Amino acid sequence: MADLFSKIQLGDLTLPNRIIMAPMTRNRAPQNIPTPLMAEYYAQRASAGLIVTEGAQVSEQAIGYPATPGIHTSTQVEGWKQVTKAVHDTGGRIFIQLWHCGRISHPDYHGGELPVAPSAVKPAGQAFTYEGLKDFVTPRALETDEISGIVEQYRYAAASARKAGFDGAEIHAANGYLIDQFLRDGSNHRTDSYGGSLENRSRLLLEIVDAVTGEIGADRTGVRISPINGFNDMSDSDPQATFDHTATALSGLGLAFLHVVEVSMAGEPCESVDMQQLRTRFDGVYIANGGYDKQRANAAITKGRADLISFGVPFLANPDLPERFRRDAPLNEADQASFYGGDEHGYTDYSVLKVV
Ligand code: PHB
Repeated sequence: MADLFSKIQLGDLTLPNRIIMAPMTRNRAPQNIPTPLMAEYYAQRASAGLIVTEGAQVSEQAIGYPATPGIHTSTQVEGWKQVTKAVHDTGGRIFIQLWHCGRISHPDYHGGELPVAPSAVKPAGQAFTYEGLKDFVTPRALETDEISGIVEQYRYAAASARKAGFDGAEIHAANGYLIDQFLRDGSNHRTDSYGGSLENRSRLLLEIVDAVTGEIGADRTGVRISPINGFNDMSDSDPQATFDHTATALSGLGLAFLHVVEVSMAGEPCESVDMQQLRTRFDGVYIANGGYDKQRANAAITKGRADLISFGVPFLANPDLPERFRRDAPLNEADQASFYGGDEHGYTDYSVLKVV
């Protein structure tokens, strides 16, 4: 029977285990360019079945946080080449996460212009800027004829990811960023073909999927969603219907995986969406995320509730997480103060087990 240590095939990629490194923003890319330290960080974690990188902006317009990497300039591609080479040289596999923050941004990043979103709906809360926290602003609603340009940003980013040597890409449609802002009706009040019905709200995601898969192949493309996460002031009047529709629409395309954040940002499970219903609607590999430990991860796989499990904070603090699970070794504690920004401290200096 399959467990965390069983191999699995993702298209023509063989994963040696089912322990995935979840995408995590670390804010250590000055000028939005990946660094040699980032290459070291990811290479240290190459024993993951698959690494999904931190979010990488698909364009200048996509930025929403300080010192997050992009994947749309030749300098960024050169930076990422060091990362993919270091991971591959260490025997790993790595997908990049394609990110557009939409309204979770600030005019400071856009020469004073407003961030863009499906609708002019201001999220509660504050943006992280280079000058500290600033209140979110009311974003500018994208014109219908601008949307093909957003899709083009993703296509170009996917082509850049291929040049940078990535094994594939995960489209970030979760956690309140641009695509999720279109999916959920709390942030999408549009009356054109990108708003209103479930079909219309998922149109942007599907157009992006089409563009990215056209560039790098469906079996190299995954999608991440977060049906119940209210983070970034997100809400939906009927999340089960919204995400049942999304999972169904993503089915039959030959995608590498559907990656589901099954909890809220605070890690709480929620009763309002039956994730298994999404799983049965999607015909491909299902990655579950959110507060799993070894025991619960193995149980989810053996019971068939998920094919793969992704780990965030445990992987951040334990570069050799698969080996620790294998040996039932104690885990390092994560240092929250060094999650976002800074140097190698709390980044590449977590200890690994001694070789036995
Ligand atoms: C964050 O920077 O806090 C962040 C970024 C991307 C996510 C979630 C959180 O998907």
